[in-house]
Amino acid sequence: MVDITTIGAMLRLQSARMSTETSAGSAPGGFGPEAFGLGGRVAVVSGAAQGIGRACAVALARFGADVAVCDRDAEGLGSLTAELAEMGRRAWRGVLDVRDSDAVRAFVDETATACGAIDILVNNAGGGFQAALLDVNDKGQDSLVRENFTSVTNFVRSCVPHMPERGGSIVNMTSIEAHRAAPGFAIYAAMKTAVYSLTKSLALELGDRLIRVNCIAMDVIPTPGLGMADFGRRTPLPIDGHVDDVAAACIYLAGDASRFVTGTTLHVDGGNTAAAGWIRLADGTFGTGV
Ligand SMILES: NC(=O)c1ccc[n+]([C@@H]2O[C@H](COP(=O)([O-])OP(=O)(O)OC[C@H]3O[C@@H](n4cnc5c(N)ncnc54)[C@H](O)[C@@H]3O)[C@@H](O)[C@H]2O)c1
Repeated sequence: MVDITTIGAMLRLQSARMSTETSAGSAPGGFGPEAFGLGGRVAVVSGAAQGIGRACAVALARFGADVAVCDRDAEGLGSLTAELAEMGRRAWRGVLDVRDSDAVRAFVDETATACGAIDILVNNAGGGFQAALLDVNDKGQDSLVRENFTSVTNFVRSCVPHMPERGGSIVNMTSIEAHRAAPGFAIYAAMKTAVYSLTKSLALELGDRLIRVNCIAMDVIPTPGLGMADFGRRTPLPIDGHVDDVAAACIYLAGDASRFVTGTTLHVDGGNTAAAGWIRLADGTFGTGV
């Protein structure tokens, strides 16, 4: 009798052969939809109970990956893993606080033991609170650093030893705030900039292992955390952003379609980074607000 673990191993072997041909060999000579397929791969997603993380977990499963998700919200994780199982994917969940490095390490090790290897890591958990720097106490500062930066280094150090010889992909969720001033969110923004910098260094440190490391820097994506508000279509693209816009970028960065892309940032922000100080005015034209 062939059990699900054996099927998983066979799929991984087949996928490894295909990936070796595309990742390490000559130019692929024309990508098809299969370059976006993630069948036989295992993804770890942090902060997956809601918002962008949840959309990424569902999209990774839709493109074929088995998914291990973690969050401090047990209820949200429960409904997510039920949804992933209904899609026919294997799913694991860990209720944890990503600021707890021991808990992160244990979750990753348990996931690797259950599935054999980790191919994709999505460092999504993050957030903060609004306060002027002078009003942030030691505890608040420590929390912001551990949630938005140290959690990323801990997940990377825990997952990389479990990534297979054919390589892998790490996707770090940063923010438009990694690239501009953020009064009231100074430490949060500085930590997102730190992740942006870390991403470039890791791209070089992990390149020989064929592990690619990239960022997605988003803005004005309605989520429970940011608020589900209508952002008034003030972006250069006069449409509303959606969590699936970030998930689509994540699918591209996770799979073979981006096999030659590392150390870079995809801006999923309706054009806000490009606009810099320019804003869409009430009459639909652009101005600098002065
Ligand atoms: N929504 C946007 O427009 C936007 C803009 C810039 C950056 N981001 C980034 O995208 C990521 C996701 O944001 P979102 O808008 O979906 O937020 P969200 O608050 O809706 O979801 C975040 C999820 O992460 C979990 N989480 C947060 N801290 C955690 C911790 N310490 N331990 C375990 N789980 C934790 C939460 O429980 C929640 O399920 C974050 O890194 C955020 O900084 C989002």
